[in-house]
Amino acid sequence: MQTKKNETASGLLMPLPKHVEQKDGAFRLHMGTTISYDPIFGEVVELAREQLACNIGGEDILFKLVEGFGEDCYRLKVGKNQIVVSSTYPSGGFRALQTLRQMALANDNLIPCCLIEDEPAFPWRGFMLDCSRHFFSVAFIKKLIDVASMHHLNRFHWHLTDDQGWRLTVEGYERLEEVASKRTLLSYTDGRTYGGVYTDEEILEVQAYAHKRHMLVVPEIETPGHASALLSAYPTFGCTGGPYEVQDRWGIFDEVMCAGNDNLLQFLQEVITKTARLFSDPYIHIGGDECPHTAWETCPKCRQRMEEQGLASVKELQSWMTSQVCTMVEKAGKRPIGWDEVLEGTEKLGIPSSLIVMSWRGDAGGIEASSLGHDVIMCPNTAGCYFDYKHLPSFDEPGNIGVTTIEKTAQFSPIPKGISKEAQCRILGGQGNLWTEKVTSAKAAEYMFFPRLSVMAERLWNPQPFASVEERRPSLEKKLTRLDINLYRGASV
Ligand code: ACM
Ligand code: ZN
Repeated sequence: MQTKKNETASGLLMPLPKHVEQKDGAFRLHMGTTISYDPIFGEVVELAREQLACNIGGEDILFKLVEGFGEDCYRLKVGKNQIVVSSTYPSGGFRALQTLRQMALANDNLIPCCLIEDEPAFPWRGFMLDCSRHFFSVAFIKKLIDVASMHHLNRFHWHLTDDQGWRLTVEGYERLEEVASKRTLLSYTDGRTYGGVYTDEEILEVQAYAHKRHMLVVPEIETPGHASALLSAYPTFGCTGGPYEVQDRWGIFDEVMCAGNDNLLQFLQEVITKTARLFSDPYIHIGGDECPHTAWETCPKCRQRMEEQGLASVKELQSWMTSQVCTMVEKAGKRPIGWDEVLEGTEKLGIPSSLIVMSWRGDAGGIEASSLGHDVIMCPNTAGCYFDYKHLPSFDEPGNIGVTTIEKTAQFSPIPKGISKEAQCRILGGQGNLWTEKVTSAKAAEYMFFPRLSVMAERLWNPQPFASVEERRPSLEKKLTRLDINLYRGASV
């Protein structure tokens, strides 16, 4: 059987695999297609039954266990009569399944014959969703994880707390749900509120769903800034004692967690302990960005803490807070991640050695942190990683602050220019971030994410020139449309 002209495996895939050999003909996937598998691929094949609509039994598709492949690596042989997936780990089998799924979706179940050998360029391939500024349903989060995993992404960074809403429950702190999770919609005059929390059961459900798709979940508990929601529920955790409000507008607010308050530290300890217990993956993000020190300057408790600890400035006080929270995370058995502000004010205390730095204000934080021996995740807002920005510099496009064209994302490299060879190996990868100040619904979030997230995934798996991305946009649009994604279809530059 012949595929239509140009419908090669390479033309249908994003990310493009590391090695593709095109062969003649195609495998037709149909209702009767059968799968056999080595038992280590049992869970992958459960998904294959859903995603390819196949049945267990015969050997039309064979998942074979072979030695010698790394995590996420696989070989895929598509013949006219049989497909053979070879891999050492279930994660490799899963990536192969997603490659098959992409070709089936993009080409009406006709999978071009080919030989693919594939492996990722970077281990950290992520996306972040801000669920504080606007609340997103578990159903939508699962949909995003599924589509992201189809592009070989493997980290879901879940931003759970901020000025406009706190999304986690903590026993003994009931006002988090009662007060901190809801903001008053000031644009209405009838006291209408907006928000909610994710229950522990929902969080477990999201993790189970992500893990089945070989994606880790990274919760972010923002400290010590962006804390209005928390302070509205527990005003004594702020420097002035309030009153505070869960914010209904966007920005950076002067009132933050009081670094001189031992009860606040006790609270953070309980939140981190709970988060570490509830989330089974190795990382907890502790925030650290955009924390004004105005309130600390005049707060007697903060001044006393500085004196006690011999800290010369409020910047050093933030570094002290970072060290405290990192210690809590480490004691709970997890690895801390912080936004690049964690590098500031560290003259006296240094930077906790296990801390992974997430570089968002350009490349500089990533270069500095990696040269100091820290692992780094790159998501510079200057280089195509911020998806809250407009797709084009047009008044008519939705978006916040800046512009991230598809071309810009297609040129992103997690390896910053000018970084030393030695530091380069500290770059774990990168991610695309969606802040949702102006993203009010799941459908709007899809429009901001796609197709930029697909393009980002390729930068992290197997970077290709922009022209090649452009050539594959029609097949990408077809796949995303079939998955009911409300994607942006406009110009790339
Ligand atoms: C950030 O964008 N404030 C990390
Ligand atoms: Zn204070």
